[in-house]
Amino acid sequence: MTQLSTGLTVEERAALATAYSAALAYRSNVSHHPARPSVGLDEAVARFRLPLSDHGEQAPQVITEITAAAEGALHAMTAPGFFGYVLGGSHPVGVAADALVSAWGQNAGSSTETPAITGMERTLCDWLVELFGLPEGTGAGLVTGASAANFSAVLAARHALLAAQGWDVEQDGLIGAPAIPVLIGADAHSAVTAALRYSGLGAGRAQRVATDEQGRIDPADFADKLARCEAPPLVILQAGQINTGAFDPFEALISQVHDRGGWVHVDGAFGLWATAVPELAHLCAGVARADSWAVDLHKGLSAPFDAGVVLVRDRAMLVAAMSARGAYLPAQNAEWEPSDSTPELSRRARGVPSYAILRHLGRSGVAELILRHHRLARRIATAVAAEPGLTVLNDVVFNQVAICCGDGPEGDRLTEAVLKQVQAQARVYPSHGAWRGRQIIRVSVSGYATRAEHADLVAEEIISAWRGVREG
Ligand SMILES: Cc1ncc(COP(=O)(O)O)c(C=O)c1O
Repeated sequence: MTQLSTGLTVEERAALATAYSAALAYRSNVSHHPARPSVGLDEAVARFRLPLSDHGEQAPQVITEITAAAEGALHAMTAPGFFGYVLGGSHPVGVAADALVSAWGQNAGSSTETPAITGMERTLCDWLVELFGLPEGTGAGLVTGASAANFSAVLAARHALLAAQGWDVEQDGLIGAPAIPVLIGADAHSAVTAALRYSGLGAGRAQRVATDEQGRIDPADFADKLARCEAPPLVILQAGQINTGAFDPFEALISQVHDRGGWVHVDGAFGLWATAVPELAHLCAGVARADSWAVDLHKGLSAPFDAGVVLVRDRAMLVAAMSARGAYLPAQNAEWEPSDSTPELSRRARGVPSYAILRHLGRSGVAELILRHHRLARRIATAVAAEPGLTVLNDVVFNQVAICCGDGPEGDRLTEAVLKQVQAQARVYPSHGAWRGRQIIRVSVSGYATRAEHADLVAEEIISAWRGVREG
């Protein structure tokens, strides 16, 4: 009888062990690295752009050489001094679980083939519904991030709104379909307009509702534009504006949309996490009455990347829009079939790292983490605003601080110079942005490891760069 080989070869085992030590070394030292890559793009590309070898290379050597070539060209996004964009920080417990995800190699698209993954991912989704205070029975799909979550929710809304008008969009497409009016805030994230483009609803056809100085939808303009909708609309609200962290007034808006038979989706990429914190939950008052929500686990929870969730109150609408069943697939589980609620069929078990992080943190750990981000953002804003010539443009209600220097066009030049200097010093890393006609330094607090000393450091770096630029 033929003897099948099992397990790993010596070479493969050595490759895994090499990667494990490299990962451990990287994460142990990342806070001592410069906060941004010291190697430029051209050099980094040149390091990797080798001719494809004819006969391959030894596995451990490949891992060793990749690690060496990446040196200096990685961005310290997991370091506690990283304040750019809104990226979380890849919590080590999630990274550990992520290593298992790759090792297990489960195709998580089918529940019956991968029961352990279904057990974890289904529990994760139930926990999230509970944490966010959403209605019991809310359907969930684990997707790559908030862009994919917004897109998936818009497809569910498109299905529901057209079905209510007697149109089967999955069968008959959009050509000749009744129009769906769409309302979004003037300061909606680009992921929302992308979702409208991908779904065939058209970014340019959406009505943009006026917003206030924080980026919140103006209720009067909203009521006016809603009254002019000729059919039940899709309305997309926002929990957490990318520059200011502001939240739309959900309580006041959602019932008006429902009175007109419309669908409310909430882009809560990072802001929906406020619902998990008693001290901040007021920011999201009324949000649970929406029809769908998009949220990132790689933001609030610091899950390793590729971790977003689409949540839909009426799960059947999500399934109708997403389900992609093939006759060759095993019998399906009607209550929980991963590929029924995401655009993908085959996929990695992306929920496992978040499941592990939630088990590790527990309810109080999550609340402490999100509240800490908020308190540190306020601490940074207070320090920066005390410096003459520096202005914090937003009310720091959550984790975003929008800072500008001086006034007018000359101020914009100074702001850019200060940001460039802070980034070049590479002790901390805030990123750029633009708000209400001004260039800004955008400080976003979202890393799992960020503490008061890092918040103080980013404020000091901005203040000292400002003093230098102003005098220089
Ligand atoms: C409000 C908002 N929506 C959507 C997104 C897109 O999320 P992702 O990059 O995870 O796709 C972001 C990202 O920062 C965001 O802040």
